[in-house]
Amino acid sequence: MRTISLNFPKNLVFGNGCSERFIVDYKTTGCKTLLLITAEPLLKCIYPVAQKIKADGADVFVYEDVNSEPTIEDFQKALQFAGRKSIDSVAGIGGGSVLDLAKLIAAMLYNAQNIQEVLECGLDKQRQIYLACLPTTSGTGSEVSPNALLLDESDNLKKGVTSPYLVPDGAYVNPLFTKTVPPSVTAATGLDALIHCIEEYTNLYAHPVIDMFALEGIRLIGSSLWRAYNDGNDEKARQNVALGSLYGGIGLGSVNTAAVHALSYPLGGEYHIAHGLSNALLFPYVIQFNMVESTERYASVARALGAEEGKDDYETAKNGVDMIFQLCESLNVKVKLSALNIPKTALNRLAEAAMRVERLLKNNPRQVTLEDAKRIYHAAY
Ligand SMILES: [Fe+2]
Repeated sequence: MRTISLNFPKNLVFGNGCSERFIVDYKTTGCKTLLLITAEPLLKCIYPVAQKIKADGADVFVYEDVNSEPTIEDFQKALQFAGRKSIDSVAGIGGGSVLDLAKLIAAMLYNAQNIQEVLECGLDKQRQIYLACLPTTSGTGSEVSPNALLLDESDNLKKGVTSPYLVPDGAYVNPLFTKTVPPSVTAATGLDALIHCIEEYTNLYAHPVIDMFALEGIRLIGSSLWRAYNDGNDEKARQNVALGSLYGGIGLGSVNTAAVHALSYPLGGEYHIAHGLSNALLFPYVIQFNMVESTERYASVARALGAEEGKDDYETAKNGVDMIFQLCESLNVKVKLSALNIPKTALNRLAEAAMRVERLLKNNPRQVTLEDAKRIYHAAY
């Protein structure tokens, strides 16, 4: 059996209202100057957290200039801001982009490596300061993963860093935070989380330790995502999707994703389609391509989704794909690239760009050639 190593946050807290626990725990760290990274629409939601930390005697600086797909330039701006404030701790409160940026800022502040070096060769210096992540969407699982992504504007490609030094000291998953997330974002981020679980379970490097989390994540998200989309106040559904997202995040460091993510990155890079949506667009077509290999695994995915049993694994797996198409439709996610003003002439170029995401393509259960990638994009058009 392959050896895997899981890097969990030292303190992983899950439950309704657990942001209060973050405030209590932060006080015990002895830190005195906190940089709170968030997105502008969340300012109202983080205000009480900032006020309570200030009341406990720490200085709090808020940085809210975070785009949905942060670029290297966005990162540099945030790092300069942090550098001017002599901070000793960072907390990210927001969606995956906010958390990724917070993780990178905490790791890179007081670090002699520059970002280009880190994107090319990896992050090899230990983080010097405390880091906490509080997700407000259920999707990326970034709060427990050693990964962070930035868009490189020079080639319009999203680039990832994986390092144990990106795993936060504290992760606080409060499902009630997601109650205010609008339905379209609930759908896209929830599908992203479901795809993490499916790509981990069907991965060429799948591992029993992660299989358990991934299958349960598929079951939880498959049974509750539509309910969370349909009624944002359905707390049970919000909890299930948040838990499924956390389970998907747990496997990102040791197993990671595969062709769905690899093919989706150029859509984010070139057409600025949000991560969850770009994945959702390609998801059913990549599964159709993959399921002729590792059919048994895709049949298990289908069963976890609640699909009907077929006469053999292939038919069961196919029933699972049908369910995924139905789920996307019920979430009003257009599963066609043509619905997003992407010209047909761009498809071959997108396929070429996707072939450069080797770090994820190597995980796919079926080898993807350039011709295969083109065929998948055309099927998704
Ligand atoms: Fe993702």
